[in-house]
Amino acid sequence: MSSGFASRLLAWFERHGRHGLPWQHPRTAYRVWVSEIMLQQTRVETVVPYFTAFVDRFPDPETLADAPLDEVLHLWSGLGYYARARNLHRAARVVVERYRGELPQEPAALEALPGIGRSTAAAILAQAHDRPMAILDGNVRRVLARHRAVDGWPGQSRVQATLWGIAESLVPGSRAADYTQAMMDLGALICTRSRPACSRCPVAGDCQARLQDRVAELPAARPG
Ligand code: ADE
Repeated sequence: MSSGFASRLLAWFERHGRHGLPWQHPRTAYRVWVSEIMLQQTRVETVVPYFTAFVDRFPDPETLADAPLDEVLHLWSGLGYYARARNLHRAARVVVERYRGELPQEPAALEALPGIGRSTAAAILAQAHDRPMAILDGNVRRVLARHRAVDGWPGQSRVQATLWGIAESLVPGSRAADYTQAMMDLGALICTRSRPACSRCPVAGDCQARLQDRVAELPAARPG
């Protein structure tokens, strides 16, 4: 059903995706990690200046681990959700003590670090090392729930499991970094929550929500 999903998405990404984000140049695991933590609850436009100031002051895990928490929180102030900054700081100390300052490349080891869940670990490995791993953040959930017309609220574990299965089935064997960014860009720029731009969507041709005229009702809202 989705033959060529990744290739259509990647061709769209070449022309219309975001290529100038600061964590893409240079794209190191540390910089991708910091960006993913900031992006967990905050929009790209807001994150960019905070990201730049943060990696200027803390260019690597050692510098971050050595810094007083107060200073880390100060550079985070305005971004909100300060548990993210505390976790990042704690995780940097683990990375220095246990992994000699290099972020581990094992998904399970990454996921064991404070603040890193399954999707964030995959986003780091895909973007920094081109590992073909699926992500499932809010944007990607919306894209997949629509493309496959997945019913049910994505907060339900059964629905979540279905979406992870679809996400994994679509990841291409190569160009995982571009593919990952492309999925996030498609969700943020085209397959938006309200008034998605289906006429400009590279995978609209076999989007089940569109074919069934159910784009507005998917993904389903939290019940009651
Ligand atoms: N959300 C999480 N990671 C992102 C990224 N790299 N680009 C855009 N939105 C994101």
